Amino acid sequence: MVRRITGFSKLSKEEKIDWLVTAFFKKKSITKDTLKKYWNNDSKLQRLHDDFIENTISNFYLPYGVAPNFIINGIDYTIPMVIEESSVVAAAALVGKFWSTRGGFKATVLGTTKIGQVHFMYKGEPSKLETYFNAVKLDLIESTSAITSNMRKRGGGILDIELRSKTTQLHDYYQLFVTFETKDSMGANFINTCLEVIAARFEKEDIQIVLSILSNYVPGCTVRAEVSCKVEELIEGTSEMDPEVYAQKFKTAIDIANVEPHRAVTHNKGIMNGIDAVVLATGNDFRAIESCAHAYAAKDGQYKSLTHCEVKEGVFRFWIEVPMALGTVGGLTALHPMAKLSLELLQSPSAEELMKIIAVAGLAQNFAALRALTTTGIQKGHMKMHLMNILNQLGATSEEKEKTVKYFENIPVTHSGVHEFYKKLQ
Ligand code: MEV
Repeated sequence: MVRRITGFSKLSKEEKIDWLVTAFFKKKSITKDTLKKYWNNDSKLQRLHDDFIENTISNFYLPYGVAPNFIINGIDYTIPMVIEESSVVAAAALVGKFWSTRGGFKATVLGTTKIGQVHFMYKGEPSKLETYFNAVKLDLIESTSAITSNMRKRGGGILDIELRSKTTQLHDYYQLFVTFETKDSMGANFINTCLEVIAARFEKEDIQIVLSILSNYVPGCTVRAEVSCKVEELIEGTSEMDPEVYAQKFKTAIDIANVEPHRAVTHNKGIMNGIDAVVLATGNDFRAIESCAHAYAAKDGQYKSLTHCEVKEGVFRFWIEVPMALGTVGGLTALHPMAKLSLELLQSPSAEELMKIIAVAGLAQNFAALRALTTTGIQKGHMKMHLMNILNQLGATSEEKEKTVKYFENIPVTHSGVHEFYKKLQ
């Protein structure tokens, strides 16, 4: 069996699929059918998707859901979310509604500065390097003027260039540390283009440029979102739980995440359930957001919670502070019809507004997780939502689904329990 190929990218889509199916799959025609079932009938739309990446052979769908009733700084939002995990959108919708009757969410952008670095090696006298840098600094900025002119018109551009010595950490290692304002675009291409021009201008015989690239760690591009209410307002309906006990337990859950990285990772994963889902729905780069958030969570030398809580003088306050580099213009946001639609649903936000919305989605998700974990446990709600996946795996009909959902209304859903009940239905 030949499982290596040269010139794969030159093959047509059909030829690529033929080769793959022959080389790797047993059920060849079923595999082909599955891949083609996910092609879009609209050939123009399919071509758009084909062109996003190399070697596209099909599309991979994820559900697109919405969570209504979010009030952020007094504005009503319905938040689009792209995610496969059963309970995430349901949790968001519940939490949005819960806080809508308690003053909603407040969010503030704390900064919007992005970072790029030219990493280089220099073996000479440090003071000579400094003199050279100071002499060419303005020229370095000037060398990018053609690239930055549009961005400058929008109020962005290069804010500063610093020379930083890193020689105590690595012999001969220095960097140009460049700060940028990229307004409503994420700015990755803009920053990288500027850096390469700066590096080329800066390089000379005793300066060896190693690499020039933006940093996805942007602690200067941070947003804060919060909710607060009286402790007694935390408990809904007929629950007999003491609100003070619940509020303290909720806070302790965060204290635990702050001293226990194993818990903090799961805690923050729950936050990223909300953040990533909106980042994806709006066509932003979720890998950049993820890596930055986790680096920020570890900024004090230990991986900690991205959310914080205070219970003081009868008031419960819960907030998140997280950096995120987002765009609402350019990139996929302008290309992907669903990303465009999401942005329209969010009332065409600026990048700063989108930072607020996404931080709120993360905070809401953490609120839902901690509320469940510190009261009923997570599995009750989680498995209820997962029930449909189990039934779909079993190939249940609508009628069977309806009967099973009814049966499990008041009893815990387990995998084996559903299988057993389903067997009896047959
Ligand atoms: C599951 O996707 C997310 C949770 O594990 C988050 C948490 O434990 O806080 C429920």
